[in-house]
Amino acid sequence: MATTLPTPDTRPEDGSGPVPEPRSTVRTLLRLWPYVRPVRARLFTAAFIAVLASCIGLVIPLVLKWMVDGPIADRDPGGVWLGALYLLLLGLAEALLFGFRRWLVARPLSGVEAGMRADLYRHLQRLPVAFHDRWPSGQLLSRGTTDLMLLRMFLAFPLTFLLVNSVTILVGVIIMLVQDWTLGLVVLVPAVPVMVTCLVFEKRYSAASRRAQDQVGDLTTVVEESVLGIRIVKGFGRHRSQARAFHELAGRLRGTELHKARLLATILGIIVTLPELAIGAALVLGCMRVADGTLSAGTLVAFLSTALALRWPVDSIGFLLAMSQEAATATTRYFEVMDAPEEDPGPGAAPPEGASSPRRADGLRFHEVTFRYPDAPPGSPPVLDRVDLHIRPGESMALVGATGSGKTTLTALVPRLHEVTSGRITLDGVDVTAMSREELRARVAVAFEEPTLFSASVGENVLMGAGASGAGSGDLERALQVAQADFVHALPEGVDTQVGEQGLSLSGGQRQRLALARAVVGRPGFLVLDDPLSALDVHTEAAVEAALRRVLADTTALIVAHRPSTVLLADRVALLSGGRITAVGTHHELLRTHPEYAHLMAGDPAGGQEDPR
Ligand SMILES: Nc1ncnc2c1ncn2[C@@H]1O[C@H](COP(=O)(O)OP(=O)(O)O)[C@@H](O)[C@H]1O
Ligand SMILES: [Mg+2]
Repeated sequence: MATTLPTPDTRPEDGSGPVPEPRSTVRTLLRLWPYVRPVRARLFTAAFIAVLASCIGLVIPLVLKWMVDGPIADRDPGGVWLGALYLLLLGLAEALLFGFRRWLVARPLSGVEAGMRADLYRHLQRLPVAFHDRWPSGQLLSRGTTDLMLLRMFLAFPLTFLLVNSVTILVGVIIMLVQDWTLGLVVLVPAVPVMVTCLVFEKRYSAASRRAQDQVGDLTTVVEESVLGIRIVKGFGRHRSQARAFHELAGRLRGTELHKARLLATILGIIVTLPELAIGAALVLGCMRVADGTLSAGTLVAFLSTALALRWPVDSIGFLLAMSQEAATATTRYFEVMDAPEEDPGPGAAPPEGASSPRRADGLRFHEVTFRYPDAPPGSPPVLDRVDLHIRPGESMALVGATGSGKTTLTALVPRLHEVTSGRITLDGVDVTAMSREELRARVAVAFEEPTLFSASVGENVLMGAGASGAGSGDLERALQVAQADFVHALPEGVDTQVGEQGLSLSGGQRQRLALARAVVGRPGFLVLDDPLSALDVHTEAAVEAALRRVLADTTALIVAHRPSTVLLADRVALLSGGRITAVGTHHELLRTHPEYAHLMAGDPAGGQEDPR
């Protein structure tokens, strides 16, 4: 993943998995309930307070009416001052209540966001490798960041204010109708076109926001990959094409965002203009009636200030709907990942070692193992086709085959990073699928081609291999010694030295030796090593090979090898070709009897290093 340089054209428009059937916005958002439940009391209180504050705002026009028809008409300055005091108090109460609401929701909602993020991360760790093969990392990253932020904003604001504004509008309209029902009806005329606009808008905006959020994911993927693959980008002078890919995606995202802005501008235009026109009409009508003497000036003032007080609740509906729509999209995207089934943890808890199972020293066996990648095109030949292989207890078996013959795939089946399509793999006679994953991974240690290290200390990176059982500094020292990783002690802070992301501050050989140390630190019964010596210089290779010799001495091991020197470390060799094990024997036997093997070992770069299939 780190070194592939995707171009936007070769990648799916939305890099996400299965497209779910569309649900209504409300039903989608309802899925958030389990996360919101713990803070529901506060959220409802806050909503109630906001409704209260908003309704207090609607009392202001009534005080104005009282002032205009009372003290002002009677030219009573004392009454005017009293009215002004009332207005001030009402304003203060409104502001305080809104402030209180903010304070009520801020902390619990950060908690909701943090909880959802933690769940997402936990789930990502438990999803099978096949899921991660399929999903671009940026799509996952953007769900954990942008989408969750959108959700928190939704819970803090639109969720409450859609309710608050609806209540405010309702109460306001009732007040207006009570003041004067003809003027009230005039102001209500735009309601129908505004509602129709909102419905149309919701649909279009939903599609646009889904596209935008997926495009953010694609963009994140490109940024992430070029940062991780910076050496390749620089080494091959790919800045320009990477920049082009980025530019193109960023341009697309910009296009989508502009489209969203245009949609929002249209709805805002309609939502703002129509009511404004209606208010204008009501003003003209009202003035005429005040002149006729059929309406009191105070009522007109109250009516108009109520209408104006409703302006913000009405105008904001566009924004609130847009934010809700984005939140619904974010929810869908969040649950697309959360709904993906986790690996099943395997049957029950691990039985005590050797207690219930018919465990005998039998080594590692592949029985008629067939494997096809879940996303392989239908009808394509399986990567592994009825593979039979037996690695005896204590034996080390080298696995040799052309590039792409399925060696990595075969090794990944043992710790169940992928599930066999058919057939069985047994460890000491016990099917790997009959063990809990915990037990399986305690018994089998792996080291892959790409010796990934994490941003942690050297010691922590190695001890990661000890699993939950935990290992002390004694085990760490032993593992480092076995893996010939003595260079660690020469690092500035020894085993406590922090290594960078992917261990980039160490050389390839150093990283591979740490990966070996990690594989052996838990004293596993079975070792599966995928090409632990790939791309090493001669001196480092000698050091790692010496390490490997000691590692192999006391385990049952399957080790993918390319070079004769590595193959010679193993007791026997298996040749993988055309998806099958075509030969098993010692290095020298196979050299004599199998031309394909001899060819692979000659390392002739011109001759077909690719699997013939
Ligand atoms: N995650 C995957 N999804 C689909 N096909 C894959 C995946 N990984 C590898 N393959 C395919 O499986 C075949 C065997 O790959 P691999 O086991 O990596 O070969 P080797 O390690 O022997 O070079 C190749 O044709 C490769 O394209
Ligand atoms: Mg491989």
